[in-house]
Parts: sequence; structure tokens; C-alpha cells
Amino acid sequence: MSTDAPTGPLRVLVFGASLRTGSTNARLASLIARLVTDTGATADLAAMRDFQMPLYDGDAEAAEGLPSGALALRDRLERCDAFVISSPEYNASVPGVLKNAIDWVSRVQPQPFKSKHAMLVSASPSMVGGNRGLWALRVPLEHLGTRVYPDMFSLAKAHQGFTGDGVLADSGLQQRLAETVEAFLRLVEADVRYVCLQRRWYEFLGDRTEAPITQRAED
Ligand code: FNR
Repeated sequence: MSTDAPTGPLRVLVFGASLRTGSTNARLASLIARLVTDTGATADLAAMRDFQMPLYDGDAEAAEGLPSGALALRDRLERCDAFVISSPEYNASVPGVLKNAIDWVSRVQPQPFKSKHAMLVSASPSMVGGNRGLWALRVPLEHLGTRVYPDMFSLAKAHQGFTGDGVLADSGLQQRLAETVEAFLRLVEADVRYVCLQRRWYEFLGDRTEAPITQRAED
């Protein structure tokens, strides 16, 4: 076991992926940040508005590098052990603003997604809670090497879903969400502190220029 495994509280970035004032996903992110804190971990609560950036444009990247919003998201990702995204579903898929942010940040080398765990949640006024969008969101994240937690949480009828003090109106769902967050963080803790994990992730196909193995904990 590595003697330099991190010993402080787990650090979890939690962000709502809607730009909208009054976003139900921002409310869900806020609730999850509270649940993260309840487990003894630290939560860094963020909103999509913290990471404003133009549409990805290869010419702009070549001329000016990454926009400040993408670099800000990169910095917040680098400072966490795991992240939670609460995302709306747009037309049964990932909102363009979120995919655009992932695309920009994926241009950082080394990109920060490959060494993180993620949990995906959604809120929607619909009866399925935006769950289809989360399946679409798994694809770019898993492509980038993120360990995406198998269990997801989708809040249906989200516009009626919260009490005045920000917890879920349905106490059974509140309990389930708390248990899912706790189980997710137990897995993150096992990886960050104890598991000897080796992974291979290349920056792009054919890239052999950087040490390809990321080791999170070593014997
Ligand atoms: C939506 N919405 C939506 N909801 C859903 O459950 N499935 C869907 O496919 C879509 N598609 C969709 C497309 C577009 C362009 C918009 C603007 C909206 C509704 C969406 O879930 C609702 O607006 C949520 O309230 C958005 O999340 P926030 O902003 O409350 O976090």
C-alpha cells in the first residue's frame, strides 16, 4: 500500500448543468452537496454559470488556447477526487452546453476526467426524470476514462419535488438518494485510499508520447 495515499476528507465537485435561474438541477446539486458533507467529505458546489465558454472552435483554440471558463472547470476537476453532475435532459440527450464544456476540457493535456469517479443525476418535470440524458452523458465521460458509477438517480416531477428547506418531498426518495451518495463515496474512498488501480488512457489514438499508465495508488 502506498504510504502517500491521501488522508484528508474526500473532495467532491457537485455541479448543476443548467444555466437557468431557478434550475431544478441546481436544487438537486445543492441537496447532493449537503448529503456529501453529511458523509464527512467536502463538497465544492458549482453551477454551469461558473464555466461560461463559447462553442468549441478549433480555430479559436489554435489562436487563443482554452477559454477561461473551460480552464476554471479544469481547475475545479483537478481539485476533486470525484464529481457529481446534475443535468437536465434535452431531447432525450445531453444538453449542448454541457457537452460543449466536456469537449473544451477534454482538450487539456493531460485531461482531468481520466482520473476521476463520477455520479450522474438528473431532474426533470417529466415522469422519467431526465434519465435518458444520463445514459447519453455516460458515453463521453466513459470515453474520457471517468469511472461512472453504475447507479444513477433521476427526479421525476422535479418542479414539485422539493420541500421549502431543499430536501425531497418524497421521504423514500430522499432516503434512496442519501444511500446512493453514501455508497458512491464508499467506492471512491476505496479507490483513492486503498485500491491498487492501474489504468491505461491515451490522450488520442496513436499517442505514445506520455507515460500512458495512471496509477492512483501503488503497492
Ligand atoms: C427540455 N425538457 C425535457 N425534459 C425531459 O424530461 N426530456 C426531454 O427530452 C426534454 N427536452 C427538452 C429540450 C429542451 C430544448 C428544453 C429547453 C427542455 C424539459 C427540461 O427537463 C426542463 O426544462 C427542466 O426544468 C430543465 O432543467 P432545469 O433547468 O430545471 O435544471
